[in-house]
Amino acid sequence: MSIFPESATVLVYGAYGHTARFVIDELVRRGSRPVLAGRSPERLQSVRGDYPDLSIRTAGVADAQDLLAAVDLVINCAGPFADTAVPLAAAAVRAGVHYLDLSAEQQPVLDLAAEFQDGPFASTVMPAAGFFGALGDLLATAAAGDWAEMDQIEEISVFTALDHWHPTSGTRRTGERNTGPRFKVAGGKLVPIAPAHSQAGRPFSWTFPAPFGTCELGELGLAETICISRHLPATRISSYLNLSALSELRDPHTPPPIATDTAGRSAQRFTMEAVAVRDGVRRTARVQGQDIYASSAPIVVEAAARILAGEAPSGVVSPASAFPAEEFLAALPFEEFSLNTKSDQHSPSV
Ligand SMILES: NC(=O)c1ccc[n+]([C@@H]2O[C@H](COP(=O)([O-])OP(=O)(O)OC[C@H]3O[C@@H](n4cnc5c(N)ncnc54)[C@H](OP(=O)(O)O)[C@@H]3O)[C@@H](O)[C@H]2O)c1
Repeated sequence: MSIFPESATVLVYGAYGHTARFVIDELVRRGSRPVLAGRSPERLQSVRGDYPDLSIRTAGVADAQDLLAAVDLVINCAGPFADTAVPLAAAAVRAGVHYLDLSAEQQPVLDLAAEFQDGPFASTVMPAAGFFGALGDLLATAAAGDWAEMDQIEEISVFTALDHWHPTSGTRRTGERNTGPRFKVAGGKLVPIAPAHSQAGRPFSWTFPAPFGTCELGELGLAETICISRHLPATRISSYLNLSALSELRDPHTPPPIATDTAGRSAQRFTMEAVAVRDGVRRTARVQGQDIYASSAPIVVEAAARILAGEAPSGVVSPASAFPAEEFLAALPFEEFSLNTKSDQHSPSV
């Protein structure tokens, strides 16, 4: 893990959210004293009960410039990011402050790329630096290895299995807000995908290591597809999730996550695997771990540490385009990270 520059000031926006609490804990654990920010003064005061040494700042995203005095980097944990990413990132860029968020939605990643396409500017803008988004991008880039500098990669697929998905209220609100088209890459271009349960989006099976085994998967348009498409030369890019997790997510009666350990993590287990195919040769990278919300924190905080250390370029980037993917993944505290870039199996196209 990179050393966190203690002199740098990090502001966590949406600080009283479920995922933000893991991000704050990770920052504090690594020696940072983040400023806690959000739009509700009461909820900020209540979260400060757990962090009496940290300061708070209150403003909505429309007044985000009021939050940024003497701040070096913002981590935006307030989703739906369709509502918060562009105003907060625009204020950050105007103030010369770096910006990261945890969007799993595709559209905010596209919106930020469009918003800042005229650059140049001094800040690093890194959307989707969480479990969905960054992790698939990092795994795909690690799997692709030196193919990233060559010509076309035929296919990149990101497969995720969750034993359960007990969604937070923020996840539910984000799903309800995220009604626009979702994309995969086909023929080297972003194209809309069919919903996972439709005829065109027929589920198929994929075999993960234990404890998941063979799962029925559905295709899902998530932020990693956009991140990967911005820096890897792939003809096809798709992302898949097991249908049992998707059903829980869509069931309004599924309860929210419950903490089962002292770190506040739920018992949820996950595995994510990226497969890159070129000339019939398959390369893979995989991680396994516990709790997708908690696991977003070390990813975004490691990215923040590296940005503050001057390791990322300015502009709109993803962790996998800014940092060496394999080394970045190895720095994260997953229970398992495995990489097979020597595989010569023939891969059936999914
Ligand atoms: N990429 C990933 O893998 C990943 C992982 C975890 C979370 N996420 C995403 O992160 C977001 C938060 O998730 P969560 O689990 O932490 O949810 P949560 O516990 O419900 O927290 C949501 C936070 O966002 C704030 N917020 C929402 N809309 C806002 C707005 N328009 N202006 C200001 N603040 C706003 C909320 O404040 P108020 O109460 O004042 O509305 C609250 O602080 C969701 O979009 C979720 O999908 C992504």
